[in-house]
Amino acid sequence: MKKAIIIGSTSGIGKHLAQVMSKNGVILGLTGRRIELLDNLKNQLPTQAYIRHMDVANTNASIDCLNCLIDEMGGVDLIIVSAGTGYINKNLEWKIEQETIHTNVLGVTAIIDTAMKYFINKKTGHLAVISSVASLRGSGECPAYNASKAYISNYLEGIRCKVKKENLDIAITDIKPGFVDTAMAKGDGLFWVMPLEKVTVQIYKALNNRKDQVYVTKRWGFLGFIIKRIPKFLYYKI
Ligand SMILES: NC(=O)c1ccc[n+]([C@@H]2O[C@H](COP(=O)([O-])OP(=O)(O)OC[C@H]3O[C@@H](n4cnc5c(N)ncnc54)[C@H](OP(=O)(O)O)[C@@H]3O)[C@@H](O)[C@H]2O)c1
Repeated sequence: MKKAIIIGSTSGIGKHLAQVMSKNGVILGLTGRRIELLDNLKNQLPTQAYIRHMDVANTNASIDCLNCLIDEMGGVDLIIVSAGTGYINKNLEWKIEQETIHTNVLGVTAIIDTAMKYFINKKTGHLAVISSVASLRGSGECPAYNASKAYISNYLEGIRCKVKKENLDIAITDIKPGFVDTAMAKGDGLFWVMPLEKVTVQIYKALNNRKDQVYVTKRWGFLGFIIKRIPKFLYYKI
């Protein structure tokens, strides 16, 4: 039976993905800061689940925590990183930008590197990280969020280059959701907000196909194509 860890599974995409994967027989390791939510989730899942408190912004502790969780589970096939934070920050409040960078950049990189060391040592595996359609362009409303997601997509491409060059049997999946109906989807003027169920089923399919990159839902792939090509003079006015 397959075993997977989901970093950031107390709510939203990570939680729903845990439910979909468990229904499909996957044994899970679940992490997040709100441990009581993980305890509730664990009790609802049909397969075995191991839970751990983890704050990815505390990088040294989260590296140790991930290694311990992998050991406790007797190894894993797949590590998914859903943990992330994002706020509208038009006034460029440093505290908000700092939290976003600590979590989405430093924290997620620490997890990616720890997961990769484990898979390289094992000579096989699958790493998947949730970036965002926001990675495609800068944002005046939440600059650190978009920049952090661009960093993650770029970092994953770098890791993928390494894996391909060294002929390693490790899949690297960059998952790019558009707006999804979770606590994180805040602000006015949101459109095409996709239901969690639809998003997580498409993510699960992409994981099974060990895709390099996937836009969820598919219509966001079409919009992503357009967003990348909007000329600057128009983009600055949106
Ligand atoms: N919703 C959208 O429209 C959308 C669009 C594109 C991409 N995404 C990305 O999808 C991912 C999941 O977000 P979501 O929409 O499902 O929102 P969510 O419901 O707010 O989930 C965020 C998850 O990240 C965890 N997390 C946040 N900070 C953390 C930290 N410092 N350490 C450990 N875990 C942390 C949270 O757990 P705790 O708070 O319990 O620690 C929670 O489980 C994020 O990376 C987000 O950027 C979301």
